[in-house]
Amino acid sequence: MSKQWLTKLMIVPPVLALLFFLYMTFVNSSYEHPGRIIYYSKCASCHGDHGEGTQNLVPPIYNTSTLKNSFETLPSLIRNGLKDSVFVEGKWYNQPMYPIQLSSVEMANLLNFMNDSFLVEKKVDFVINSAWVETQISKMSK
Ligand code: HEC
Repeated sequence: MSKQWLTKLMIVPPVLALLFFLYMTFVNSSYEHPGRIIYYSKCASCHGDHGEGTQNLVPPIYNTSTLKNSFETLPSLIRNGLKDSVFVEGKWYNQPMYPIQLSSVEMANLLNFMNDSFLVEKKVDFVINSAWVETQISKMSK
């Protein structure tokens, strides 16, 4: 094998490996919804990976009437928790949901994820930001 070939063999594979690594990093990071990470760390343990709930204990949230008809009540519900019994998709649930600590930016990310993934027809057609979250919370506390 010529010296020129050996040099190529030493350079080409590492360069390809580096390009592959950069490509994978870029592709993976552009796919991960920031709200998905929040959902999986703060909600999925009770409401399930796909919002299906936990039998008889935790109501589902996937495409339920609360998400469809009262989407704007979610920021305050999540921040303040819920003590009343709720009737969801034909069943009563009466375990309390404790308040969940999230900043308004984290809440905005979470709600964008829920709007994209937990509703057959999107509820809001804009990108939710922290100002929208704060507005809904102050409306509910009046
Ligand atoms: C420790 C378990 C637990 C966690 C964690 C949790 N929830 Fe809940 N969630 C519940 C329970 C239990 C209820 C029913 C509360 C009641 O009956 O008063 C509920 C109720 C709800 C409801 C109202 C359902 C309806 O249609 O009335 C929504 C929406 C909701 N949760 C969303 C979330 C979101 C979003 C998160 C994450 C930020 C979350 N929950 C985290 C247990 C949990």
